[in-house]
Amino acid sequence: MAKTKTRYVCQTCGSAQAKWMGKCPDCGEWNTLVEMVIQEPAPGRPAALVAGAPTTPQPLPDIPADGYERIPVPIGELSRVLGGGIVPGSVVLISGDPGIGKSTLLLQLCAVLAEDGGKVLYVSGEESAAQIKLRAERLGITTPNVLVLADTHLESVMAHIEKTQPRVVVVDSVQSIYSDAISSGAGSVTQVRDCSTQLLRLAKSQTFPLFLVGHVTKEGAIAGPRVLEHMVDTVLYLEGERFHSFRLLRSVKNRFGSTNEVGVFEMAEKGLVEVRNPSEAFLAERLPNSAGSAIAVTMEGTRPILVEVQALTSATSFAQPRRTANGVDFNRLLLITAVLSKRVRARLADQDIFVNVVGGLEVQEPAADLAIAAAIASSARNRPVAADLALVGEVGLSGELRSVGQLPRRLNEAAKLGFTRVLVPKTATRKLEHPPAGLQVLGARTLREALEIALMPAAAAAGSG
Ligand code: TYD
Ligand code: MG
Repeated sequence: MAKTKTRYVCQTCGSAQAKWMGKCPDCGEWNTLVEMVIQEPAPGRPAALVAGAPTTPQPLPDIPADGYERIPVPIGELSRVLGGGIVPGSVVLISGDPGIGKSTLLLQLCAVLAEDGGKVLYVSGEESAAQIKLRAERLGITTPNVLVLADTHLESVMAHIEKTQPRVVVVDSVQSIYSDAISSGAGSVTQVRDCSTQLLRLAKSQTFPLFLVGHVTKEGAIAGPRVLEHMVDTVLYLEGERFHSFRLLRSVKNRFGSTNEVGVFEMAEKGLVEVRNPSEAFLAERLPNSAGSAIAVTMEGTRPILVEVQALTSATSFAQPRRTANGVDFNRLLLITAVLSKRVRARLADQDIFVNVVGGLEVQEPAADLAIAAAIASSARNRPVAADLALVGEVGLSGELRSVGQLPRRLNEAAKLGFTRVLVPKTATRKLEHPPAGLQVLGARTLREALEIALMPAAAAAGSG
C-alpha cells in the first residue's frame, strides 16, 4: 500500500522540501512553504495488475481464463476494442488528434455507465463545467449520475475521487493535471508521469476503472513520457480525418483483450454513432464500373473491411510527375508504380498519379497492393474493374502476387456484401478449403495476369469521361 510522507511545498514555485524553511531555496520567497502530506509509492511493490487477484503461486489449470468480472459497456464497438467490457481497476489511455472526438466518446461512455445507477466522475482539466454541459446537451445526456469536476489540481481530484467513490473515473486530459508536490510546470514530463502514477495507484487500490485522455504530439505519438504507455493497461487511439465523419478506435495495447481491434464510429449531429457494418458504409457512394476504382478487402485487426481504392492518372505538366497518396503508404505507392511500369509495361512515367482510399481510412496492409495497382492501371487504360470483383494480394518486386493472411475471413466479408468474384494470389487458392457459397475465387500468379482478369474492356463506362 502507498506510504505517505510530509513535504513542505512552496506556494510560489511549487518546489518541495524535506523540512520547513523560512525562505524557499528555489525561488527565494519568504514564508511560502506549506506542510503537505504526499502519498509515496512503496518501492519495488507495484500495484497488482488485477485488484483482488491472489498473490500466491497457482497451478496453471486452476487459474480461471478470464478471472475478472467486467463492467459491460452497452456501446458495442467500444466494448469490443476494450476486450469485451471494462475490467475494474484497469487504466485506459485514449489518445488522438485534437477535435477528433475523445471527449465526446468518453462523455457518451460516462452516460451509458451512469444509466445503471452508479456514479461516474468526469474530471475536466481543459474545459469548464459549462462547456461539458453544452456537449452533454448536444448528446442528450440528462442523468444526474455523471458528476463533472473541472479541476486540474491532482491532490484535490484524488480527494474528490475518494469522497465520491465513483464507479468509473475519466480524466480529460492527463497533461492538464498538475501536482503541488512536483516542482516542474504543468504538462511537463515529470508532472505527467508522476500524476498518472498516483492516479493509477488509486485506481488499482480502489478498483475503479480509470480513463485517461492523452494528447498527441505533431508526429502523432502520445505527448509526455513514453513510459505512460507502459504503465497503463490499455492504449487506444481515436483516428480519422477531420473532414470525414468516420472515426476508428484502435487498440494498440491491451492487457485484457486482443490488440489491433478496431471499432468504427461516425461523428454525427448527436455524438459518435456506431457503424456496425463498416464495409457497407465505406462502399456506399461507389460508382460501379468507373475507371480508376478497385475494391480491396483489408483486415483491421481480426475484422475484414472492404474499402474502395481510387486512382487517377493524368498527363503531367511537370518535368517530374507527381505521386500523391491519401490513405495508402507513399512508399508503397512508389513501389507499386515501379512494378506496374517495369513488369506490366504500363506507361506511367509522364503521368501524375493520385491514389485515395475512400472514407478517410488508412490502409497499411500489403494485401491492398493488388487493388491499388488495379485502380492505377484501370485509370491509365481507362478500363473499369468489374463491379462484382474484389481484390486481395501483395505485389512483389518481380511482379508476382504473394499470398496474405486471414483469407477465409476476407472472402466471407466479400460474399456478405454481394461480391460474386474475388481475385487472389494463385498460391492462396490451393490452400483454400471451403470458399463461401456463391463466391468464385479466381487465382492469378502475376500482376499482369491479375490485370487481365480484373480490367474490363474500355466500354462506355460511367465516370470515365
Ligand atoms: P471533441 O470530443 O471535443 O474532440 P477532442 O476531445 O478529441 O478534442 O470533439 C470535437 C468535435 O466533434 C467538434 O469539431 C465538434 C464535433 N462534434 C460533432 O460533430 N457532433 C457532436 O455531437 C459533438 C459533441 C461534437
Ligand atoms: Mg477534448
